[in-house]
Amino acid sequence: MNNFQKTLLEQGKVINETVLKVDNFLNHCIDPTLMDDIGNQFAEYFKNKGITKVITIESGGIVPAYATALKLGVPLVFCKKAKPSTMNNPLTSSVFSFTKNTTYTLVMESDYLSKDDQILFIDDFLANGAAFKGIEDLISQKGAHLKGVGICIEKSWQEGHSYIMNKGYDLFCLASIASLQNGQIHFS
Ligand code: G4P
Repeated sequence: MNNFQKTLLEQGKVINETVLKVDNFLNHCIDPTLMDDIGNQFAEYFKNKGITKVITIESGGIVPAYATALKLGVPLVFCKKAKPSTMNNPLTSSVFSFTKNTTYTLVMESDYLSKDDQILFIDDFLANGAAFKGIEDLISQKGAHLKGVGICIEKSWQEGHSYIMNKGYDLFCLASIASLQNGQIHFS
């Protein structure tokens, strides 16, 4: 069991059979030492993939993605969920969030992605994979290459896991959860 899985068992709170609360170390209050460890683990796994850029989505993905980009020595670009007035040349993709039952537009400045980029996508959660599909769309609009997907917590029974595996992408999850039944975290 890695450090992240241990922290998840000690500090994660099962809200119901589909939602896990991790606000106290991952997506609200941040444990910097744990983030450093997360960056090391993702960087170690993807170090031979020729990654030129890490991409994530605001807000929960930014800190683990930053830690990973720092270790790999490459830039990080985080996609936004609304277009800033200062953005000149946006790439956009529409994303439906099952958890929040809303649609938002994923936005990224086109200049920050080139067709030669070898992308590592990092995010805090993988659930239904809607956010991932938006990222996949943005990358394909520029003809760049998705070389890997690093996820802190996947809920493997939801659709995102099989979508990514069926597409043949290299998926590495620090914690893969098989179920949240009976108020307990059960790893895959
Ligand atoms: P998907 O992209 O994989 O389809 O996921 P979905 O739309 O269902 O998830 C929407 C949001 O909910 C995402 O955050 C995701 O990180 C978060 N999420 C999904 N499952 C869980 C869970 O079990 N626990 C917690 N705490 N969050 C979960 P977001 O809308 O992008 O918001 P942000 O918090 O990153 O800003």
